[in-house]
Amino acid sequence: MSELTTLMEVGGPIAACGGGAAYLRARHPAAYWSTVGLPVSVARILGSYGSVMDSCGLTVQPSRLRVLATRATTRREIRPVPPRRGLMRPTSTGLWLRLRLAPGQEPEDVAAAAERLRHAWGVHSVYVQDVKPGVVELRLVGFDVLSRVRMPRKAGGGFLRIPVALREDATASVRDYRAIPHQLTLGATLSGKSMYLRHLITGLARQPVALVGIDCKRGVELAPFASRLSALATDPEQASELLPALVDLMESRYDLIKARQGIAPSTPDEEITSDVWGLPESERPVPVVLFVDEVAELFLVTTRKDEERRDEMVTQLIRLAQLGRAAGIYLEVCGQRFGAELGKGATMLRSQLSGRVCHRVNDEASAKMALGDIAPEAVGAACAIAPERPGLAVAGDTSGGWTRVRTPYLSLADASAVCQEHAHLVPDVPALTPFRPVVPAEPVERPASLVKPRPVAD
Ligand SMILES: Nc1ncnc2c1ncn2[C@@H]1O[C@H](COP(=O)(O)OP(=O)(O)O)[C@@H](O)[C@H]1O
Ligand SMILES: [Mg+2]
Repeated sequence: MSELTTLMEVGGPIAACGGGAAYLRARHPAAYWSTVGLPVSVARILGSYGSVMDSCGLTVQPSRLRVLATRATTRREIRPVPPRRGLMRPTSTGLWLRLRLAPGQEPEDVAAAAERLRHAWGVHSVYVQDVKPGVVELRLVGFDVLSRVRMPRKAGGGFLRIPVALREDATASVRDYRAIPHQLTLGATLSGKSMYLRHLITGLARQPVALVGIDCKRGVELAPFASRLSALATDPEQASELLPALVDLMESRYDLIKARQGIAPSTPDEEITSDVWGLPESERPVPVVLFVDEVAELFLVTTRKDEERRDEMVTQLIRLAQLGRAAGIYLEVCGQRFGAELGKGATMLRSQLSGRVCHRVNDEASAKMALGDIAPEAVGAACAIAPERPGLAVAGDTSGGWTRVRTPYLSLADASAVCQEHAHLVPDVPALTPFRPVVPAEPVERPASLVKPRPVAD
């Protein structure tokens, strides 16, 4: 009897803990990681570092000096040496660990072993980041951070730098307009393109930037942000008037830069500019970001006359893409496909849009349009995105690599509220004033009458 009691006393709490941990792991993976996963992984790494590195092929033969020293001081056998381990840095989603590579090793060796390390240490995934020559950072991620996206607190945002999504290594993916001026976002319907734009618009809405929208789906996606937009075109006809105005604006900015360069020969070197960022702050025009949702709708043609108009618009977009950066004009283009079928010059335009993000696509050809020139594995990864995960995408990296990213959920109402809140930040750009969307006035709430209406009859 007493044995049974002991069993219950000991077994009960253990079972409860096990059940609690399993529940926590399934429902609150972040809390599970902080309480259980992290200590277990740290213990595993500390306990098995040398042998895991050895079995992953990441050790090298010790130097002759080391062999002599070991022989002279101890009687231990001479073992191969693993990369020297730096301090471990726990985070809310994982664990970062720096390694000093042994002579003869390169970061690719460690990256090739990432999958083996992940299994050995029981974590969700392992990524390798090059820090400086000879040092790499192992980023261990404790759980699937892309299933319920929460942006990190320190996301690295700033002027024209918008943290827009979470990368699979739990760091923020930042859309930096000054580093990559133009971007193309591809994806099938309902894959999450408009959500991506929504995050960019709400991020930029808080900054002194002119936002311009072209949404030829009658404005269903961009009209809710009208209060913060400097210009909005909701059909190809309006767009065909807006684009030349933007090209003119760009040319006038070039004139401004030229005038600045042409001034007095005594001007100090650092004031000579080749883009708007070199102009003194008082003269610097505000940056303009042009959002095009569903580019195919813009280029849709039904008649011969439409075709001419489309060719003109493609040419204007190409000009904006080629010369816009220096004038502080940036393009953010979204579409389902972006191939030669969009008309003359479409592939030329695509090659100018250097940033690439590819959401779920229906066929490999579409993924190739977005990522083919970045990496063939990226195309495969984009094709493998499941429809149950809208917002998941493969993004090209500035370093030439690629990574999976996912946007957090943001409702249209919340995004629209952010735009309304920052409506006073719409900059004064006279060239765009004729295209300013009319914002429907907020319905004025009638003061409630305190007198109860009484029927007249009786
Ligand atoms: N990151 C995300 N998390 C959760 N739901 C998302 C996410 N991105 C998009 N969705 C949902 O997927 C649906 C399609 O998204 P949307 O951005 O309109 O796609 P698209 O513009 O590519 O057609 C919407 O209902 C949206 O709420
Ligand atoms: Mg959309």
